[in-house]
Amino acid sequence: MRTEQSKTIYLKDYQVPDYLIDETHLTFELFEDHSLVHAQLVMRRNPEAGAGLPPLVLDGQQLELLELKLDDRELGEGDYSLTASHLTLQPTQERFVVDSSVRIHPESNTALEGLYKSGTMFCTQCEAEGFRKITFYLDRPDVMSKFTTTVSAEQHAYPVLLSNGNPVASGSEEGGRHWATWEDPFKKPAYLFALVAGDLWCVEDSFTTMSSREVALRIYVEPENIDKVQHAMDSLKRSMKWDEEVYGREYDLDIFMIVAVNDFNMGAMENKGLNIFNSSCVLAKAETATDAAHQRVEAVVAHEYFHNWSGNRVTCRDWFQLSLKEGFTVFRDSEFSADTHSRTVKRIEDVAYLRTHQFAEDAGPMAHPVRPDAYMEISNFYTLTIYEKGSEVLRMIHTLLGPELFRKGSDLYFERHDGQAVTCDDFVKAMEDASGIDLTQFKRWYTQAGTPRLQVSEAYDASAQTYSLTFRQSCPATPGQSEKLPFVIPLALGLLDAQGNELPLRLQGEATASGTGRVLSITEAEQTFTFEGIAEQPLPSLLRGFSAPVKLSFPYSRDQLMFLMQHDSDGFNRWEAGQQLSVQVLQELIGQYQRGEELALDQRLVEALRTLLLDESLDQAMVAEMLSLPGEAYLTEISEVADVEAIHEAREFARLQLAAALYTPLLARYQANRDVSRATPYVAEAAHFARRSLQNIALSYLMLSQQAEVLAACVEQFENADNMTERLAALAVLVNSPFEAERSKALAMFADFFKDDALVMDQWFSVQAGSPLPGGLERVHALMQHEAFTLKNPNKVRALIGAFANQNLINFHQADGSGYRFLADQVITLNALNPQIASRLLAPLTRWRKYAPARQAQMKAELERILASGELSSDVYEVVSKSLA
Ligand code: ARG
Ligand code: ZN
Repeated sequence: MRTEQSKTIYLKDYQVPDYLIDETHLTFELFEDHSLVHAQLVMRRNPEAGAGLPPLVLDGQQLELLELKLDDRELGEGDYSLTASHLTLQPTQERFVVDSSVRIHPESNTALEGLYKSGTMFCTQCEAEGFRKITFYLDRPDVMSKFTTTVSAEQHAYPVLLSNGNPVASGSEEGGRHWATWEDPFKKPAYLFALVAGDLWCVEDSFTTMSSREVALRIYVEPENIDKVQHAMDSLKRSMKWDEEVYGREYDLDIFMIVAVNDFNMGAMENKGLNIFNSSCVLAKAETATDAAHQRVEAVVAHEYFHNWSGNRVTCRDWFQLSLKEGFTVFRDSEFSADTHSRTVKRIEDVAYLRTHQFAEDAGPMAHPVRPDAYMEISNFYTLTIYEKGSEVLRMIHTLLGPELFRKGSDLYFERHDGQAVTCDDFVKAMEDASGIDLTQFKRWYTQAGTPRLQVSEAYDASAQTYSLTFRQSCPATPGQSEKLPFVIPLALGLLDAQGNELPLRLQGEATASGTGRVLSITEAEQTFTFEGIAEQPLPSLLRGFSAPVKLSFPYSRDQLMFLMQHDSDGFNRWEAGQQLSVQVLQELIGQYQRGEELALDQRLVEALRTLLLDESLDQAMVAEMLSLPGEAYLTEISEVADVEAIHEAREFARLQLAAALYTPLLARYQANRDVSRATPYVAEAAHFARRSLQNIALSYLMLSQQAEVLAACVEQFENADNMTERLAALAVLVNSPFEAERSKALAMFADFFKDDALVMDQWFSVQAGSPLPGGLERVHALMQHEAFTLKNPNKVRALIGAFANQNLINFHQADGSGYRFLADQVITLNALNPQIASRLLAPLTRWRKYAPARQAQMKAELERILASGELSSDVYEVVSKSLA
């Protein structure tokens, strides 16, 4: 709880550690009602920290100290001081050994941080500051040590005993217990420590590295899940190969293990040689996991594997540098996914996610730079800004340097800093040194929070044959930062002529055109670029591939957007033109709704989508993406004041109109794709994802018609599909439909069939939590009583409560404030059980400034109620207090 941790920690206060830990020898004795941890720390004074022998201050929380020795001398109570978070003792020489024994209680650890039990197995989560709940230690990433770990447990219940590195010894003890010792040859910070003990089965495979070393690959799961591991194993092997080919990075131990656990706060964790995963990010087979789940497994497996270099071999000096490893690794995994499937579709998904969720964070009370300079609780900074915006920052460096120089830079970074704990500045320096490009101004992306606005205007001079684009950038104030300096904005663009051809581009002062598309580097608050030799008024295609995370505005007419939708050579910008057209049309409907007028849909949107639907030469995934109207959360984000009802009604009206007008082509595409699906076994590859995505979005439109033939098709798909992608989509469509009998029957059938599969039941909860039909809160209340639901499992909380608050805006924002009250109640309960989950669940309430005064008051009242509810965790306290500030 907050007592000692609620103070703010500042980057400017960073100091090197006073002491170092060369070796860490751990022994765990695991029992059902407690566990014992013995730690032997071989320590020395840090030569970089100055002279003298200051007191040694070890981190430690919720540890019962049983024994403490300094160089074999037993310490009594007068020899050390102990608080709720620190153990302080006085070394007497430069080199010394600290031995401690503590008792901890993994069996009752519901925060899922440190050592805890998930079901019947023991596991750990140490990032960022969980290791201090295991033993007294210098729990900071710049203290790197060689670990040896012995685990002992009852043999029958815990046949598998794992830790980082290589197994070096094992044996049995009297009384049915056994033990195993693991040794990790690489120095690492404590946050990368891991331990697992359980009754697990594993799938084994191997990978031959580029220097012909054989690496054993093992994925451990509970026995009933052994048939859901192949996809993760294939993904792992593809990741290992990709990192060799694209970054020249080879794996460095003889064994690489993944363990799936059911109770996990986040997605997964890159512990050295022993990744621990939320089971939702490992387990996947056609019958139980959707296409999206398959892609998520692949991406998370890749992400954690890539951390072995970007995170483990080179780690962070302090937690302010978190994006050093997370932004870089997200960039690496998204490029891997782009190379493996469809680059354009991956980019569309990532950008839609960033603009909806990270932009909202950047505009809210928790807005912070990619490299924050202050925090209360580091767990609150595993954010969309650190991860997703951090990845965009890396992508911009990649764009500015080009692929060759970027690779030179990353090679230099890994070579220069291997085995070190470094900063974002060190990373940028390596990129500068390798490329010769000065990134001084660019680094503002690391230090300034907020989403830049980029306003673009044009001027065509027919007689001079010049075309000028003027860019004005600005960035709104964010907490603690009122003034912003101009960013470096790489802007990829092209110019189209009236036939949709790309014009050759020559800037004023250049002798010859350098091709058609190019990247401008915008560095000033206001800047004009003039192209010469432009024979007709062109149409600009701006910010291609979303080359910078900014809010761009250009006064496109709807006809121009339709033209770009069809002719832009950049696939991302064809989608973007469609989104902008949809946004314009939806905002017009929102206005009509607010003025009490009859709603009238601009028929140009209908015709644009009809053209796409009829063109069978197009990538089906792209057609599906274009058909998906901007979501309610995105429409909220771009509103000055979000009108929940108007947004929902306008969007639903548009969907109904589209469904009616496009019934025939939608049905044709649906039936053709469903026929192929019926005749084709499930494959987790781009072309198949594409087919199913168009099929399923077509079905969701068609069902709005309430035609009997569509209902029959939907039930057929639900009952006969051989994969979860089709089955769940049909279920969702039924759940959102007015066909009550079919809906209840499908829900019951589904729950009966999948009741023993926790991850599938999560999807069953989510589909119902997300349904916009009236009575949403009552349904969620009822589902919380279902036997498969528990507040102790983060996946369940996310699937039901998180889905309701984040994806069911019309029900969550009920005018009587009941949704807010409900969420606050859950946060208060979870605060005591699992602070990290409680704090994350809060996010929707922190957005109160987006809404009209009545809702603002209701949301604030709930935040205040949480604040007054008793002893808050530092996690919840930080978010609530900053939201009210
Ligand atoms: N480093 C992990 C990753 O790959 C995230 C773990 C953070 N966990 C936490 N409880 N804060 O993204
Ligand atoms: Zn990560």
